[in-house]
Amino acid sequence: MTGSVPADPLQRAVDALRRGGIVAVPTETVYGLAADATDGQAVARVFEAKGRPQFNPLIVHVADRAMADQIAAFDALSAALADRFWPGPLTLVLPLKEDTAIHPLVTAGLTTVALRMPQGPALEVMSKLQRPIAAPSANTSGRISPTSAQAVHDDLGTKLDFILDGGPTQVGLESTIVKVEGGTIRLLRPGGITAEEIEKAVGQTVTSAGARPAIEAPGMLASHYAPAAAVRLEAEALQPGEALLAFGNSRIAGADAALAVRNLSPSGDLREAAANLYAHLQALDRCGAGMIAVETIPHHGLGVAINDRLSRAAAPRGK
Ligand code: TXA
Ligand code: MG
Repeated sequence: MTGSVPADPLQRAVDALRRGGIVAVPTETVYGLAADATDGQAVARVFEAKGRPQFNPLIVHVADRAMADQIAAFDALSAALADRFWPGPLTLVLPLKEDTAIHPLVTAGLTTVALRMPQGPALEVMSKLQRPIAAPSANTSGRISPTSAQAVHDDLGTKLDFILDGGPTQVGLESTIVKVEGGTIRLLRPGGITAEEIEKAVGQTVTSAGARPAIEAPGMLASHYAPAAAVRLEAEALQPGEALLAFGNSRIAGADAALAVRNLSPSGDLREAAANLYAHLQALDRCGAGMIAVETIPHHGLGVAINDRLSRAAAPRGK
């Protein structure tokens, strides 16, 4: 059972998060690798620490329903599920509100957000922080999710600002993810709450994802963000009428005549670049250019994930 934690370490976790740090916090399911969900650079550090090959959208954790309502729009069925199962291991995929403070890196630029109110120390942390936290499981990508502070320490120890020890987690596997679509409940990921429990609570059948992938990764969704403008990579010179997505100490020819320029990180910091990626692409798209030319971005560290997203945006738009 996830125990309570003394006030002192709890406050350290809160302070570290407030400073933009990344902190392992116990939920009732698994230990999460938490960052302030409104802080793009902190969220970028989460992806970096996990070594995620690409920017999968993260679950946003909230302290209460009021916080959830500022982030997402609840249909009646989703509201009933939240009333019944929160706090607890149920994640709801919901339409993202437009004026939300959630950083676009958290949702991978999607128009939906995965939300849950957890049990355990993570909830206490957010109540004090008064902000939502983005938290994937606190493990290196491809490894097993951690259910103890020691497991987190063995895997990610040196990469984190703090590990909040709440003892072994109660549930030990990740939350169930569902999405209400046209009045039906679709199971996107089985987890801590069974389909039967959900069916019993709301008197409605839960449909499995069926032939569709168990998890809708951003690259598979039709709604995945791609700019209206075309995108070309590794640009060495700018053509008239193009917008420029620059990186580092940019010296690209023809940049003076660009319709608009945004630099992902003038100092060449990939973490900063990751945090800026979606917002900069969106800003360049709004300037109305037909083509966004992208300077070469180093293909290491977070650059691999950035290039993965950019190459999806630059891929031929078949459909
Ligand atoms: O129990 C849990 O859910 C743990 C604890 C820490 O809360 N968290 C967790 O997060 O498992 P993570 O990042 O490992 O898994 C999140 C899953 C991903 O598979 C992602 O594809 C899916 O949620 N997801 C996130 N946003 C989504 C969205 N808008 N639509 C569909 N799936 C989404
Ligand atoms: Mg995980």
